[in-house]
Amino acid sequence: MSIFLFSATFFTSYGQVESKHGMVVCAHPKASEIGIEVLKEGGNAVDASIAVQLALAVCYPNAGNIGGGGFMIYRSHDGVVDALDFREKAPSLSTKNMYLDASRNIIPDKSVKGAFSIGVPGTVDGLFTAHEKYGKLPFDSLILPAIRLARDGFLLTAKQAREFNKLQDVFNKFNSQNKYFIKKEGWKEGDILYQSDLSRMLDLIRIKGRDGFYRGLIGESIIQTISNGGGIMNEPDLRKYKSVWRTPIKGNYKGFEFISMPPPSSGGITLYQMLSMLEGFNFDSIEHNSVEYIHLLAEVERRAYADRNTYLGDPDFVQIPMRNLMDSSYLMNRISDFSWNKASVSSTIYTGTFNESEETTHLSIVDKEGNAVSVTTTLNSSYGSKVFVNGCGFLLNNEMDDFTSKPGVPNQYGLVQGEANSIQPNKRMLSSMTPTILAKDGRLFMVVGSPGGSTIITSVLQNIMNVIEYDMDMQSSVAAPRFHHQWLPDQVFLEEERFDSTIILGLENMGHTIKLRWPIGRVDAIKCLKKNKKQGGADPRGDDKAIGY
Ligand code: DON
Repeated sequence: MSIFLFSATFFTSYGQVESKHGMVVCAHPKASEIGIEVLKEGGNAVDASIAVQLALAVCYPNAGNIGGGGFMIYRSHDGVVDALDFREKAPSLSTKNMYLDASRNIIPDKSVKGAFSIGVPGTVDGLFTAHEKYGKLPFDSLILPAIRLARDGFLLTAKQAREFNKLQDVFNKFNSQNKYFIKKEGWKEGDILYQSDLSRMLDLIRIKGRDGFYRGLIGESIIQTISNGGGIMNEPDLRKYKSVWRTPIKGNYKGFEFISMPPPSSGGITLYQMLSMLEGFNFDSIEHNSVEYIHLLAEVERRAYADRNTYLGDPDFVQIPMRNLMDSSYLMNRISDFSWNKASVSSTIYTGTFNESEETTHLSIVDKEGNAVSVTTTLNSSYGSKVFVNGCGFLLNNEMDDFTSKPGVPNQYGLVQGEANSIQPNKRMLSSMTPTILAKDGRLFMVVGSPGGSTIITSVLQNIMNVIEYDMDMQSSVAAPRFHHQWLPDQVFLEEERFDSTIILGLENMGHTIKLRWPIGRVDAIKCLKKNKKQGGADPRGDDKAIGY
């Protein structure tokens, strides 16, 4: 294998980026560059994650955001772990049936597009809350690169230009009072996107801190934009928003400790359930991505998602039977009817019973001391509600669609969810975001996460399996073909053109229904090897970039 030396970053011949000190992997090269600069200036992983998120709000506007929300998992070099929930909340005037018509049918698109789909944004509060507890460099120095990037512009990638062109009508429809991202002659690769309003707003946040977003000019503009569009968020909703430190979900898979996000994300518990069900299997003789491998994982995924969709919701509002869901005999029992020869049928896989009662973006960062941050952040759909805040130049989320609009009816990710995730004022909507960190023998081993709506959890699972069971390097792991099952619909989703027809036939012969689809997830991850060597895996499905130093 040939290795090219570039600064202190190594590129192996198959595109694997390796480094000795720090590593940043995220969805846009500009944001990765900004993150690595922060690390070189002596910032820690949390500092870099703040600078990267703010940069993504500028150069990756489909998911990078200040108008959305997310989750952070943190692990210090000496094993202290933490989880920050900066998920959006339902506005206080929300009601359970707000997306249903008089006949109790879902009103198409009402929870997905426009002002009525917007949840109270958590990102800015999350950035300041993370910084207060773990930041080392002044906040100013973390936001200034994003301010400059918005003011001086950046080159659009081909993919971004294509997306902007596709969305011109939608942006026009939902933004009668502003013309952000509109270009009559169309966008092309290499065009420069200048965002002077956004630059000024970021500067306001720099000067005034958290209140610069939730009150004053920006806060008022958010409320005005939303009420002009027929939405219901009010000033106290914004003013009262607070992110929450939570206890991470911790588990063990064959000697590897994993730390992931607890509710209101379903990521950590569902990952815990799937890894626990898989722990009893020996993968030495199971070929990666073979018929039997996909069958086994699909069966495990089917069972875990049945529980996810029924029991999970915001823990501040619903009682989640965490201990039961994570009980080892419960989980062994759940997989005990697994057959190597035949697919089970989702309609007969009920949620377990006990004795008692798609655009997001992920970033993975490790600093030179070995502190690690895994953040997944989102506007929900690509470009969220498609509503820009007037005069401010940033987009608001459409996270309300992650709630159960009507039990039993699928949301935009096809998730069929229950009462635990029904809409209530000030409640957080259930998420699938799964920022995760793994350690082995007390040392950092892997940082991983993905966008992809309901497919996030299974994408994270497959990358953990790729690395632990199949000893893949990080880049090969993130690039490997992926599949997905989520209980309902009862289908195995396979990435189109990435699986051989014999695999498809083999699965069909076992009784699985196969559905080919567009790429699943975009995993950005880091694997830590001996002697401080770090491998960055940037998903080739996007413009993602790993940079080390
Ligand atoms: O929180 C969630 O589960 C979703 N809002 C995530 C959306 C997403 O990943 C879309 N990305 N492709």
